[in-house]
Amino acid sequence: MTYPKHEIAIIGCGYLGAVLATVFAEQGNNVIGLDVDQGKVEKLNQGIAPFFEPEFDELIAAGISAGNLKFTTDPSAISTSDLVFICVGTPQLEGSSAADMRQIWSAIELIAPHLHSDALVVGRSTVPVGTAKEIETRLQKLTSTNSTIAWNPEFLREGFAVRDTRTPDRIVIGVQNSDDEQKLKSVYAPQLSKDIPLLVVDLATAELVKVSANAYLATKISFINAMSEIADKTGADVVALADAIGLDPRIGRKFLGAGVGFGGGCLPKDIRAFIHRAGELGLSSSLQFLKEVDEINLRQRDRVFSIAKDLLNGSVKGKRITVLGAAFKPDSDDVRDSPALDIAVRLNSEGANVVVHDPKALENAAKRFPVLTYEGDLEKALLNAELVLHLTEWMQYREIDPVSAKKLVRTPQMIDGRNMLNLEAYQAAGWKIVGLGRQPK
Ligand code: UDX
Repeated sequence: MTYPKHEIAIIGCGYLGAVLATVFAEQGNNVIGLDVDQGKVEKLNQGIAPFFEPEFDELIAAGISAGNLKFTTDPSAISTSDLVFICVGTPQLEGSSAADMRQIWSAIELIAPHLHSDALVVGRSTVPVGTAKEIETRLQKLTSTNSTIAWNPEFLREGFAVRDTRTPDRIVIGVQNSDDEQKLKSVYAPQLSKDIPLLVVDLATAELVKVSANAYLATKISFINAMSEIADKTGADVVALADAIGLDPRIGRKFLGAGVGFGGGCLPKDIRAFIHRAGELGLSSSLQFLKEVDEINLRQRDRVFSIAKDLLNGSVKGKRITVLGAAFKPDSDDVRDSPALDIAVRLNSEGANVVVHDPKALENAAKRFPVLTYEGDLEKALLNAELVLHLTEWMQYREIDPVSAKKLVRTPQMIDGRNMLNLEAYQAAGWKIVGLGRQPK
């Protein structure tokens, strides 16, 4: 099947933008990726992935060698693009719960002089509701073109970024006229031909879909984590509980994984920015519950810390502790707001001798927290440990043989902060193992 080809610009080439650029190129479009980071642009142009994301290495290499995918730091390169996707980051503003919108505004200033007269600017970053209209106002001041704005939130999960971009669960487009709707439908023709649902909405709804989806997911995780606190006190098993309630199709089992909670570059900062925006709208009480969601989530990290202290007889000082996992989730090298690293840093600051292992994220972790000790070899990381913490559920950790691992550590004690290990197998091998809301029988 052949689809219409488009001239597309992607502004911001991180996990979201770089993957979107390569998938659009794979679909035959001419794609230019614009980023301010020269090093990242050079790598991408050589077909090298600047981050770890399954399937992305092959995809970027193929796009570059096919010749219809290029990256640049030169904003004039977007002057022939019919569609310009804004994919820059909106991290948490330092010292505030609000989103830091500086990358959005500088991207708009950067591209405005180069937009061609009928370009459609498509927002894809996660933003406070109302941003699209503000972008439009700023663009009208900065340029004399007829360019319009649409919003097209992304829902990709790191670790599944390529899959979620090629075949998302749904495509949401917020548009202001039927021309823009047709342009976006044409760009997404390959996806729409696979019967992926399309929702055409207004700008504000499109912006809200993303933040409310993330708020709901965060709430689901914090709900099950609150249940895990109750389970710990009552001797119940939160994993069995999640299985049982998850079988109700109105609830569903996904995102009921109790443990050290959510981290990463999205969920934590998105719920905080949403709370902040609600305050600006005079609706603080509507999202009051999200504060609790955030608190429950952060409390999981405290719980692991205090269980660790208990297992080590009241003090972690001088104790050799192995932390399994540095990435905020498996199949990613992203360490932004990683619960695992947060706990590791805390243990380290209380005087523990912490060694962190991760299959992919050690380089990023070491850049962020040079104070910790990192070990890429799992056996070496486990050597002489007085306590092991399983904090990111890489498959490799589920495959650890408790009998062999016991021979490496000094004291066979494990906290399963992701409730993924076989407690009985560990117990049978002579380990003391504790889950969050789950005890061995
Ligand atoms: C999330 C959204 O899923 C995605 O749609 C959005 O576009 C960006 O934010 P991501 O941050 O990649 O994606 O990770 P996700 O898989 O949603 O996990 C978020 C966090 O929740 C991780 O730290 C994960 O470990 C944690 N989590 C997830 C749980 O603690 N329990 C669960 O059951 C599921």
